[in-house]
Amino acid sequence: MKTIREPRLMHNESEGFRSAGKRIALVPTMGALHGGHTALIREARTRGDVVIVTVFVNPAQFGEGEDFNRYPRDSEGDLRTASEAGADILFAPETAAMYPPGYQTFVTVEALSLPLEGAARPGHFRGVATVVAKLFNITCPHCAIFGQKDAQQVVVLRRMSRDLDLGIEIVVVPTVREGDGLALSSRNAYLSVSERREAPVLYRALRIAEKRIRAGERSAAAVVAAVTSEITARSSASIDYVSVADAETLEPLSALDAGRTLLVSLAARFGTTRLIDNIHIRIE
Ligand code: PAF
Repeated sequence: MKTIREPRLMHNESEGFRSAGKRIALVPTMGALHGGHTALIREARTRGDVVIVTVFVNPAQFGEGEDFNRYPRDSEGDLRTASEAGADILFAPETAAMYPPGYQTFVTVEALSLPLEGAARPGHFRGVATVVAKLFNITCPHCAIFGQKDAQQVVVLRRMSRDLDLGIEIVVVPTVREGDGLALSSRNAYLSVSERREAPVLYRALRIAEKRIRAGERSAAAVVAAVTSEITARSSASIDYVSVADAETLEPLSALDAGRTLLVSLAARFGTTRLIDNIHIRIE
């Protein structure tokens, strides 16, 4: 596996692949690679002749007071994990190469960036869309692979790819979980032993939502109440939001009609660690 740090060199390399008729699959990450990223890279391996993994902790998607400075960084581990999972190139630019002095251009996907994570983290998706657009331009992929755990990110980036005629297929890989259901996340590393013990309550609560809906519950408020009470009764977590929305439009729902795919999503804090999780439920 080759490591590249300069955007211009990465772009030249990708143009070379393209002119040789190779299909490029991209896995954008912020590093601290774990089993969830490995699943993305393996998926990329099945879809591309060349697999590029990017590692860049993007300051533009962190708000003031968020964890940009303490976000886990593990460049040696990333090299090993990406190479073992089958990446051909690791692109790991410096911040100054991505946002040089005078930088002032941003991409905003408007309405889809506002609810859920966007309401809790204003400006987050502007940062995500901007860096992903830049990574797309630099690496020239045919497809890009993202995890379902960041459900709203997928919706926002699909919209961006369509709206800007990028012609890049956005591929989604199911959330990878620990044996007890906790979704893999680089932020799990922040959890204390007791918080780690409590954190699987998030997925248990989502499964309760699914069970209730499959048993015929059609009130979103009742589903939100069931999820909230499971989390608050069984952990010390403080809930940022629990939501039932249309999985494509992210429109909040009150009545859960047949023929929709629902996104049941939540964010909660264990101490200072904020975790997110979600499930999709199709109502026939
Ligand atoms: O999902 C992530 O790790 C990041 O939001 C992404 C897509 C790499 C953009 O920085």
